[in-house]
Amino acid sequence: MLGGKRIILGVTGGIAAYKACELASALSRRGALVDVVMTRAAQEFVRPLTFAALTGRPVHTSLFHTPGGDFVPHIRLASEADLAVIAPATANFLAKLAWGLADDLLSTLLLALRCPVLLCPAMNTAMLMHPAVRANLQRLREMGYHIMEPAAGHLACGAQGPGRLPEPEEILERIADLLAPQKDYRGVKVLVTAGGTREPLDPVRFISNRSSGKMGYALARAAARRGAAVTLVSAPTALKPPKGVEFVSVETAREMYREVVSRFPLQDVVIKAAAVADYRPRVVAAQKIKKKEGTLILELEKNPDILFELGRQKLPHQVLVGFAAETADLEANAREKLEKKNLDLLVANDVTRPGAGFGWDTNEVKIFYPDGRVQPLPLMPKEELAHRLLDIVREIRTLKTTRAEG
Ligand code: PMT
Repeated sequence: MLGGKRIILGVTGGIAAYKACELASALSRRGALVDVVMTRAAQEFVRPLTFAALTGRPVHTSLFHTPGGDFVPHIRLASEADLAVIAPATANFLAKLAWGLADDLLSTLLLALRCPVLLCPAMNTAMLMHPAVRANLQRLREMGYHIMEPAAGHLACGAQGPGRLPEPEEILERIADLLAPQKDYRGVKVLVTAGGTREPLDPVRFISNRSSGKMGYALARAAARRGAAVTLVSAPTALKPPKGVEFVSVETAREMYREVVSRFPLQDVVIKAAAVADYRPRVVAAQKIKKKEGTLILELEKNPDILFELGRQKLPHQVLVGFAAETADLEANAREKLEKKNLDLLVANDVTRPGAGFGWDTNEVKIFYPDGRVQPLPLMPKEELAHRLLDIVREIRTLKTTRAEG
């Protein structure tokens, strides 16, 4: 979503300017072209060279002394930008923007911008609560600026309370929301499963797999950004649930079965990115299994196949997407799963390939369609793949609706 986007990062003079370095770096790592614009006060806290090194681009600090003889930098930057984020935004900067003052590059640039602008105020709590600052924030909201409320916690001045700049990851999420394509999933109910189920052996041990949940969480996040009402049924992961989704935490395959199958009749789309254990220990020991001489033989019994059950119950308008994690015979296995589980789409990843499958931030998949088509996709970030899959699911939904009407 951020790849190739031109983002202006305005940095004003507050101690939280150091966190803007992390934000600049995170945006650049995700492929955005970041133009940092600093006020004079911001340069007291962080050197422009830091941002130049992190973004690989010149940093803009002046209306008049500009790199490469750029005589109207504010107009050029404004015309190219997809989004601007001001982090941190000081009380002084907010006041200038609220009243249209333009006495340096950043404030002048802001008046020329036509793209969405995200303001991230950060200051001492008393300053933040001052009626003048509250009034300016309200005025800016009414003008259409997007404002991230500061977080509460320990402030650099030693006080506790609201005023902290939100964490760069949270600002990044908000930026991605603002850059999201059209809300083409508004009114659509999407259920996503993620993570690897855990099948207990005794109170301290379980059988599981290498799923990190990244693929499923990326799908849930992307669908929510596009306006869907998302339910994420997740086995344990180390990830934070995406904002705005209904989050259902499960541990075992049987728990996942219950939560998914009971919700299925109300869903329009189900995407099963979870790695579900096919087997579970037949007996779960009540106490920790003790070490003994010789070998230990575990007896396993089959778990229910959730996707198979969904395929059996599927209504004509519902779209069912399965994943397949394969280490050999990808094509044959994928086709068999697609057919047996009555899927509209099967996304197969060869998990032996570097960058694909378990744990990576990227994935490389082949998409199998019921009519026999196969579409290989190149290696790409899981976030991007999530959007590609949602584009395909949208087309399938359109086809199904047209067929139903015709
Ligand atoms: O979580 P990550 O680290 O990001 O890794 C992503 C991933 C590799 C887990 C993901 O891309 C993926 O391939 N998920 C499916 C893994 C898997 O369990 O594949 P499978 O071939 O065993 O199962 C096929 C399909 O049936 C899957 O959609 C699975 O959710 C479903 N299934 C399987 C068994 C079962 N008892 N019930 C099911 O519903």
